Amino acid sequence: MIVAIDGPAASGKSSVAKEVARRLNFTYIDSGAMFRALTFWALDQALDKEEELLPLLESLTIKSLDGGIELNGRELYHELRIKKVDESVSYYSAMASVREKLKEVQRQEAKEANVIMDGRDIGSCVFPEAEVKIFLTASVEERAKRRFLQRSNKMSYEEILEDIRRRDAYDTTREIAPLVMARDALLLDTSSLSLEETIDKVEEIIKNVS
Ligand code: DC
Repeated sequence: MIVAIDGPAASGKSSVAKEVARRLNFTYIDSGAMFRALTFWALDQALDKEEELLPLLESLTIKSLDGGIELNGRELYHELRIKKVDESVSYYSAMASVREKLKEVQRQEAKEANVIMDGRDIGSCVFPEAEVKIFLTASVEERAKRRFLQRSNKMSYEEILEDIRRRDAYDTTREIAPLVMARDALLLDTSSLSLEETIDKVEEIIKNVS
């Protein structure tokens, strides 16, 4: 069974998906972490343009780890959350070749087991046939507040708010696989829900389908 949880930056997707996966014994896959790993690698190699990345993408190996990503044999954890990656991930994730590559990886990893995958286009593009599709959202201020309280990097609340606004704009207006709610997804606004309440709701939705 595939459960797709999509939504804007900092909507709580990963905390919710992780805990629901634990409760139901599903495998949790963080597709955003894949985009972050690829961004870290591209910045590290000073690859800026899509033409520069393109010839290297085919042989790039990417694998989900618990809380991280293994990329070309290198394990990445805290590197995925550094400021440079936060600032550039939307740029790289708008590239068609990057999305194609990661779609392949995402589909391959979901073959293994019952999976909960979170991202932006999981229900709309990667798994249009997913049995459960949930679109999680919350107001931009609430999302910035949550991320500010959760993060260990040095960004202020205002910087985070600005970063999330910029990423929302980029994610929703990019040409390929923009952040949109799949027509058959369930909308869940968590602005006034606690994390626990959101987790309970999502768990209930999945149980009702399976
Ligand atoms: O969920 P996150 O903040 O870790 O995601 C990081 C970035 O990756 C986000 O700005 C958009 C991009 N992303 C995407 O384009 N498609 C996905 N399925 C997941 C993430």
